[in-house]
Amino acid sequence: MSKLRVKTAVFPVAGMGTRFLPATKANPKEMLPIVDKPLIQYAVEEAVEAGIDKLVFVTSSAKRAIEDHFDKNYELESELAKRGKGELLQLVKQVLPKGVSAIYVRQPEALGLGHAVLCARPVVEDEPFAVILADDLIYNGEHGALKQMAEVFADRQCSLLGVEEVPPEDTSKYGIVKTEGGSGQLTSVVSIVEKPNPVDAPSNLGVVGRYILTPRIFELLAQVGIGSGGEIQLTDGIAHLLEDECVLAYRFEGTRYDCGSKLGYLQATVQYALRHPELAKGFQAYLDQIHR
Ligand code: G1P
Repeated sequence: MSKLRVKTAVFPVAGMGTRFLPATKANPKEMLPIVDKPLIQYAVEEAVEAGIDKLVFVTSSAKRAIEDHFDKNYELESELAKRGKGELLQLVKQVLPKGVSAIYVRQPEALGLGHAVLCARPVVEDEPFAVILADDLIYNGEHGALKQMAEVFADRQCSLLGVEEVPPEDTSKYGIVKTEGGSGQLTSVVSIVEKPNPVDAPSNLGVVGRYILTPRIFELLAQVGIGSGGEIQLTDGIAHLLEDECVLAYRFEGTRYDCGSKLGYLQATVQYALRHPELAKGFQAYLDQIHR
C-alpha cells in the first residue's frame, strides 16, 4: 500500500480569547499581530511549508476577520496597483498562496477543542490531517515544526503529537503525555491526560499545539463525553486512539512561544522584531538604550 501524506490542516479558531480582552472583544485573538503578521498567518505559512494545500478553519460568529484576511481584497489590490506599490500588492496577494484552498466550518457552541476538531469531519473526510493551534507560535527559520512532523508521518504512518518539556509546575496548562522508548526525539505515547495537577502528572512532557491525526480520531471524538473544564477534549479522543493505534510524541526542533499568554506574546514580539530585516538593527539599538 502506498504511504499516506498529510494534505489538510485544521485550525480551531472559534475560542473567545478572554486572556487578551479588551483587545479581542471585536477582533479574533488569532488576528493579533506579531510585528506585522497575524498569528493565524504564521500558522498557515507553517502548514503550507509542510505541503498542506487544504486549510480548514473552525470558526465562530465573531471571527469574520479571519475569512476576510485570507480572501481577496479587490479594493485594496486595485488601490495598491494604481499607486504603483508592487511589493505591497504581492504581499497582500500571497496571504493565501496559489493552489491552497481555505474552507470555513462553524463551531456553533464553544464545547471545547475536541468538539472543534469534530466539526471539521465533513470536510476532512477519511484522511490523515494536521491540527495547528495558532497561539502556539513555533519558530524554526529553516524547517518548520509541522514540516518536521509531516516527514515523520510520511515515514511512520502513525498519529503524532508535537511535544516539549514544560516547567513541572505548569502541567495544569497542557495535555501531558507519558512515553516509552527513552528520551529521544521520537517516542511512543503510552498515556495522555488533559491538564493534570503537578502531583498527578505522569511527566512534564506537554503537547504544544501541533498534531497529526488519523481519521479514526473522529469516531472517538464523537463518543467521548465532557472532560476537563467541562469541555470535549481532543486529549480524551487521543487517549482512546492510543488503545487502537500507535501514537508518537515528537520533540520538534524550534522555539515555541505561548502567544495565548501576554508574557509569551511579548517575548515572541521582541524575538520576531529582532529577526525582522527592516527592524532588527533599530530595535536592538533601542533595547540597548533602555537597558543602559
Ligand atoms: C489546548 C489543549 C492542550 C494542549 C494546549 C497546547 O489547551 O487542550 O492539551 O496542551 O492546547 O497549547 P488550551 O491551551 O487551549 O487550553
